[in-house]
Amino acid sequence: MRSESDTDVSFEDAPFDIPVADRVRRLPPYLFGKINKLKLERRRLGADVIDLGMGNPTDPPDAQISDKLKEALLDPKNHRYSVSNGIENLRREVAKRYDRKYGVSLNPDSEVIACLGSKEGFSHSCLALMGPGDTAIVPAPTFPIHAYAVMLAGGNVIQLDVRDPAAYLENVAYTCEHLFPRPKVVVANFPHNPSGTTVEQDFFDELVKLAKRFGFLVLSDFAYADIGFEGYQPPSFLASKGAKDVGVEFTTMSKGYSMAGWRIGFCAGNPQMVRALATIKGYYDYGIFQAVQIAAIIAMRHADPAVAAVVKEYAKRRDALVDGLNRIGWDVPKPKAGMFVWAPIPEEHRAMGSIDFALKLLAEGDVAVSPGRGFGEEGEGFLRLAIVENEQRLRQAVRQIDRCLKG
Ligand SMILES: Cc1ncc(COP(=O)(O)O)c(C=O)c1O
Repeated sequence: MRSESDTDVSFEDAPFDIPVADRVRRLPPYLFGKINKLKLERRRLGADVIDLGMGNPTDPPDAQISDKLKEALLDPKNHRYSVSNGIENLRREVAKRYDRKYGVSLNPDSEVIACLGSKEGFSHSCLALMGPGDTAIVPAPTFPIHAYAVMLAGGNVIQLDVRDPAAYLENVAYTCEHLFPRPKVVVANFPHNPSGTTVEQDFFDELVKLAKRFGFLVLSDFAYADIGFEGYQPPSFLASKGAKDVGVEFTTMSKGYSMAGWRIGFCAGNPQMVRALATIKGYYDYGIFQAVQIAAIIAMRHADPAVAAVVKEYAKRRDALVDGLNRIGWDVPKPKAGMFVWAPIPEEHRAMGSIDFALKLLAEGDVAVSPGRGFGEEGEGFLRLAIVENEQRLRQAVRQIDRCLKG
């Protein structure tokens, strides 16, 4: 920046420094940068990289949903700014869906808001609820935004290992007993990204009791609500008695409905928390493209069979990948839900660390995965593989990994 005593002439060629805000400077370096760069280089060289790095569905949404979008696109009314909390029929549809799937009753006017994906809703909720001096407990290994949204809001983060849910609850209680001021927010995320950890309803019953005892708020990121295997139905936090008194839950059309690029999700639950998010959003955005909202209504009304088909497909992919890896001698557990395989790095390669191991699979095997370290220290020693490619490509990925590890 210029100082007042400088003269104009010397300003001309002097380097101009942009002093970004502390909230940006506080963020840690982006750990996937090296991997993304190598992926791009391999592709530029003509390599057919099998990309299992991100939970970004490769299949299109059900045709009914896209057809409705096309129709809504032709209606001039839908091109204006929409309402920032989502159109009434959409919020009503979300409430109906919660009732149908989880027996949860929601007031669509005060207890539901539409978001530009669940990530936006989660992030802005942190901004609406937290500030300097406030602390959030987040699951570890950590889906990055669970920590960064708290940091961007000026809050502090405590990461607790979530892979044993009962121990997580005990550690939440212990932390609340010993930290002063007490944590203000506890983040839940089941099915968990990246570890695939799942819970039953009694976990949330207990979490609500703790929230009431220690006075914390709950943010439940339920992004993988729709993707449970072998009849497992991930439970909703909101279905626990008293949940609406203490928290909200975020759901999304990105995963089960394969609408990730459409940017539509929801926050539902405690009306004061929903209102706080609505206030922030009212200032920051003008809502989701209305044609997308209308198509999302059709999705929730008619596309349950398509979601079931997607889940079946993910189960087949999971089997192709996990069975394949087990066959080549890499012992990997099968997740019960979600879109990821959380693979412990084979003993003989563990010392190199997850980032270098992921770089090796990419450089020598043309398979891109996420290193566990990208999810914090608790993720070290693991890789996360997204089951977003088809079965044939996943079998090919296993062959390429096998060649790379034996080579
Ligand atoms: C745990 C979790 N929450 C939120 C998101 C973001 O979802 P959305 O597309 O709804 O913003 C993801 C996407 O990968 C996720 O894994």
